[in-house]
Amino acid sequence: MDLEKLLTDRLAPAFATVAGVPVDPVVRRSPRADFQSDAALALARRLGRPPRDVAAEVLEYADLADVCSVAEVSGPGFLNLTVADAVLAGLVSALATDPRLGVPVAAEPETVVIDYSAPNVAKEMHVGHLRSTVIGDAAARLLEWLGHRVLRANHLGDWGTPFGMLIEHLADLGEAEAAHELSMGDLDSFYKAARAKFDADEAFAERSRRRVVALQGGDPVTLRLWRLLVEQSEQYFLTVYDRLDVTLTERDFHGESSYNDLLAPVVEDLGRLGLLRESEGAACVFPPGSVGRGGEPLPLIVRKSDGGYGYAATDLAAIRQRTDALGATRLLYVVGLPQRRHFEMVYAVAAQAGWLSPPARAEHVGFGSILGSDGRMLRSRAGGSVKLVGLLEEAIARATALARDRNPELGEAEAAEVGRAVGIGAIKYADLSNDRHRDYVLDWERMLSLDGNTAPYLQYAYSRIQSIFRRAGVAARPEAAVSLAEPAERALAFELVGFGRVVGEVAENLEFHHLAGYLYRLAAAFSAFYERCPVLRAEGPVRDSRLVLCDLTARVLRQGLHLLGIRTPERM
Ligand code: ARG
Repeated sequence: MDLEKLLTDRLAPAFATVAGVPVDPVVRRSPRADFQSDAALALARRLGRPPRDVAAEVLEYADLADVCSVAEVSGPGFLNLTVADAVLAGLVSALATDPRLGVPVAAEPETVVIDYSAPNVAKEMHVGHLRSTVIGDAAARLLEWLGHRVLRANHLGDWGTPFGMLIEHLADLGEAEAAHELSMGDLDSFYKAARAKFDADEAFAERSRRRVVALQGGDPVTLRLWRLLVEQSEQYFLTVYDRLDVTLTERDFHGESSYNDLLAPVVEDLGRLGLLRESEGAACVFPPGSVGRGGEPLPLIVRKSDGGYGYAATDLAAIRQRTDALGATRLLYVVGLPQRRHFEMVYAVAAQAGWLSPPARAEHVGFGSILGSDGRMLRSRAGGSVKLVGLLEEAIARATALARDRNPELGEAEAAEVGRAVGIGAIKYADLSNDRHRDYVLDWERMLSLDGNTAPYLQYAYSRIQSIFRRAGVAARPEAAVSLAEPAERALAFELVGFGRVVGEVAENLEFHHLAGYLYRLAAAFSAFYERCPVLRAEGPVRDSRLVLCDLTARVLRQGLHLLGIRTPERM
């Protein structure tokens, strides 16, 4: 039970008595006391009474004696609440012996499908896919830890008209040479070469168009070549996932092609439901509420005028499959903000068709762009899109060099391991610690810095605590009595007991910067504590109590970072 909830539960009945109707006490951390509630101000306005009187009356009815050492009216009518040391210490002790660190398993576990990463076959993953992969993987880790059944859906772009030219190009190169190029991760040049031939050579373009027809018709030779392309790309993406330390595996590829057989029924059923309208030869649905700039209704095209099915039809088929066959009630789509309208329309149509009805719901977990230091979309020096693996290698190289500089005692292997954990951690943390709706600037210096809201800072805080235990040659005894006499101890304790609340909120809004911000505050509170309160030099019960605080901080940092997909080396 977190303190906000505990205090809310105690204040709510008192407010209800005074108001005659339920009132949310809105308890929050306070600079003046531990917590404050300002709800008496609004209530007094409603009742037409002096706010301080209303606040005082609420206090009279509130049952706070066993929780607060001080509960008083202040200023214009705030309630200032100071939590009793023993209560806080009791909560810390409960956490210390709780393997879940105060984070309960979900009361109603759901099946959650997380659509993320989703790169395109024979194309390099770009930084947009990096964001989707990092955010989606954090969502998967978090929701799984809360006890939900998480299905990772890597909606690979493995179908559509470009495959005509890609297969022809593959056939021209010869299978062996093509496989070699693709396995080197040279996806972009493969794609660009195919594209260039398509644009310049009419005969090639014609062959490519016939290839698309053959592919859709299920021609065995064409299918075999197509599979070769898909498999090579999948292998390559798996090496990126491995580098990036994400939980996606080969079992999670559910490419667009896997919905082929469901596309015709989707369109037929939309027709039977009377939802289809023809527009310029294409079969469309006009979902209510989707209008353009001039107020004109916008169509979602489910079958193109040439009879082909596109991106929208595939997404509708996927929704149907996810709610129906997989029994999912929460569908998450971790895709960049430019695709927001697409998803809104797809969800609206799925709802109209009855494929997405409560309790099932879909959420677009959108995100902004990664910018270069010039404040513009991240580009390579040559002006092309930045190759993701290149970015990861650079992060690891920089972090390894820093690790060697900072700690010459690390052996070669350990420095490499630390470099990898810190480099990849820095990339992920830079992403997750920013509000995902916004763009952010990729800044190597800042994200690898040991100061500030960065992965290295948090990893360092963790390793520093581990070194306290190493140096002392002791292990914490979680059942040791906790006492909180110093303000810095209390401040740390308040952060520790707040973990469950943050995790619960982030499970709802998937705004990981709140979890990152929490971990940063926790690490900062630990630093302040460690500066002011001797641990190993303390004696007896005080030392034991402080060791519990150290150990608990380390465990919360490790678990929190683990949820973000970031490793915590024991030494740095
Ligand atoms: N492959 C797409 C892209 O690269 C992303 C797919 C997102 N998922 C989906 N269900 N549409 O932009």
